[in-house]
Amino acid sequence: MKNRMCEMFGIEAPIFAFSHCRDVVVEVSKAGGLGVLGMGRMSPERVREELRWIDAHIGGKPYGIDILSPTTYADPGEQKLELDKVVPAEHLGFVRKMLDDAGVPRLPQSDEKEIQQTLLKENAFTREESELMVEIAMQHPIRLIVNALGSPPPGLVERAHARGIKVAAMAGSEKHALRHKAAGCDFVIAVGHEAGGHTGKTTSMVLWPRVVDAVAPMPVLGAGGVGRGRQLAAALALGCEGVWCGSIWLTTKQSEVQPEIRKKIIAAGPDDSIHTPTVTGKPCRTLRNRFSEAWDEPGAPKVLPAPLQMLLWWGEGRTRVERVNAKDFLTYPIGQLVGDMNEETSVRQVVQGMLEELAETRERLERVWE
Ligand SMILES: Cc1cc2nc3c(=O)[nH]c(=O)nc-3n(C[C@H](O)[C@H](O)[C@H](O)COP(=O)(O)O)c2cc1C
Repeated sequence: MKNRMCEMFGIEAPIFAFSHCRDVVVEVSKAGGLGVLGMGRMSPERVREELRWIDAHIGGKPYGIDILSPTTYADPGEQKLELDKVVPAEHLGFVRKMLDDAGVPRLPQSDEKEIQQTLLKENAFTREESELMVEIAMQHPIRLIVNALGSPPPGLVERAHARGIKVAAMAGSEKHALRHKAAGCDFVIAVGHEAGGHTGKTTSMVLWPRVVDAVAPMPVLGAGGVGRGRQLAAALALGCEGVWCGSIWLTTKQSEVQPEIRKKIIAAGPDDSIHTPTVTGKPCRTLRNRFSEAWDEPGAPKVLPAPLQMLLWWGEGRTRVERVNAKDFLTYPIGQLVGDMNEETSVRQVVQGMLEELAETRERLERVWE
């Protein structure tokens, strides 16, 4: 395939993969697309370790990183590194009782404080720490930095461009996309409502062409609901120059997803991907689970804003739930594609399957005018 996104990175197909898993990143780039490692809030040591591993396995193919800008996350200071000092007692009590009632055991008291403190530290990192993470990544041959949840922080675009690294950001509306363009991004990723993770309210079918027109002639990748060739064809037809996929990698054998969650994903239908603020404090699409549903019941407290709700879920909920694999409560970010993800696959199968179905779609469309 040939277009501006293929040329920008020297790749065979404009299939971009978001993944927290280095194996997926490497396999996608080796299959002719471009793997992008979601770094979340990794420590500097972890960034070094992951990128060294990628460099050793990717065979010189291009790859990128995805960072979370920390602008809305304040350092709570050492004295506040306790969950019950940062989230209201009512909320903590609500979650404790919900899990107690469901028979999910509490954390041993000796571990509880340590787990919660590590978590609070990781989620309260400062702008300096984020810059250090990017600085370390820039010492590796990364070709792309994507900023999640907002425009790239000041200075990042200049630093990246000076090293020949492209910069992009995620947009759930034309307004976001125009802001990213003004911030100097090289392209934007238009994320529809059906996507896994944080999304806006407009679905891909309507959002993609709107963003394409708003930022033209800047290239746009379509994200949200892409896992097969017909969906890739739709993105190209709507004016996108490629696709950005997240959910579809979760059932590949390379993915990081633990076996119990994987089973739940394979058994799920499209309605089992729910859009809820209950796991992070911002609207996020995730696998249906009992924790999220409990917040809709009468008498439930109001969901806390980010990052407090996330600290509550991770600090008290998720840690307890995953320790014993409490099936009904297990969740993971995933889009509506979950209904089509019915078996274990491999990264290569997904990429090749997409390209084959894209070719069939093209032939089918050409026959319409014969
Ligand atoms: C498990 C998972 C975790 C995600 N975490 C992030 C993240 O940390 N940063 C980010 O920019 N996007 C994140 N996303 C969203 C993806 O970048 C992408 O927009 C989305 O997966 C595309 O829609 P799809 O899931 O239908 O493929 C995540 C998605 C999934 C499935």
